Amino acid sequence: MAQSPLGFTPPVLLAPMAGITDLPFRNLVASFGAGLVVSEMVASQEMVQAKPGVRERAELGFEARGTAVQLAGRDAYWIAEAAKMVAANGAQIIDINMGCPAKKVTNGYSGSALLRDLDHALTLIEAVVDAVDVPVTLKTRLGWDDALLNAPTLAKRAEAAGIRMLTIHGRTRCQFYKGRADWAAIRAVKDAVSIPVIANGDIINTNTARKALSQSGCDGIMIGRGAQGRPWLLAQIAADLYGTASPDIPSGSAFTDMVIAHYEAMLAFYGPMLGARVARKHLGWYMDTARPPTGLRKAVLTEKTPKRVIALLHDALTDQAGVAA
Ligand SMILES: Cc1cc2nc3c(=O)[nH]c(=O)nc-3n(C[C@H](O)[C@H](O)[C@H](O)COP(=O)(O)O)c2cc1C
Repeated sequence: MAQSPLGFTPPVLLAPMAGITDLPFRNLVASFGAGLVVSEMVASQEMVQAKPGVRERAELGFEARGTAVQLAGRDAYWIAEAAKMVAANGAQIIDINMGCPAKKVTNGYSGSALLRDLDHALTLIEAVVDAVDVPVTLKTRLGWDDALLNAPTLAKRAEAAGIRMLTIHGRTRCQFYKGRADWAAIRAVKDAVSIPVIANGDIINTNTARKALSQSGCDGIMIGRGAQGRPWLLAQIAADLYGTASPDIPSGSAFTDMVIAHYEAMLAFYGPMLGARVARKHLGWYMDTARPPTGLRKAVLTEKTPKRVIALLHDALTDQAGVAA
């Protein structure tokens, strides 16, 4: 069985997605099978200074096996303090975010903005590597824009500083999420270093996973949006590519039961008010998968009372067009 470079099996990873890959979703994806799941990005200084809601994101479940905690930051002191805090609480892998393109983050001079100042980026990497004993990994993009495709340089310097694995989203910062991920361009990063490199971007099934691996030459893949509404996708791709156990892809009432269990986990995790709100996007994705009639879909997404949402889900999901993976 293929083992990922840092020892987790298989090398098919769940991408960090703010507002999406919370503990309930990570648990669900992990229950089908995933080499590694990554927490939502956690802002270092805010977490250390315990702004409401920020610490929870990293704390809840960060000791779970097979979870990396992702930190974002612009200041070496704060990101190192945050790393120490999550490592002391059981984080097994710390991932540094140098890929987030959001203006809120890049104006704060973190995320992908660090691609424009590699010297500064290195001070953050060194601070985290020095602060903790657990493996530190880095997630970034191909570069800032087409004129600054400097991920290979960053990768080399990061490797020398002690980074143990890199994930590359095959877009530049200035592309945001537009266009298509360029898996072949990731090869320049893979060729620049000896540490494992993971390919990311637009992998939505076994076919695209295979292409991403062959075009990039990478050691594994990371999947984000493709897993929305299809939490078994990573396990299914891993089974196809690496011969791991095939997941039981739920259909009919088993699919409905899985969705309701996820819904209830979100209500329990966030409390009923916030939970019902956060759940809506996941329910939307599940309905993209099951394709119920429009009226039922709307009813599920506008209903506020959890009990009635659950009743509607039975109608909307069971016996619908089917769960085509
Ligand atoms: C809603 C959303 C939130 C994201 N949040 C993060 C994040 O917190 N940290 C990060 O490194 N990348 C984040 N990403 C980027 C993803 O990890 C991933 O690199 C990107 O979505 C491309 O992979 P995909 O095509 O498989 O989704 C986010 C992406 C989306 C769509």
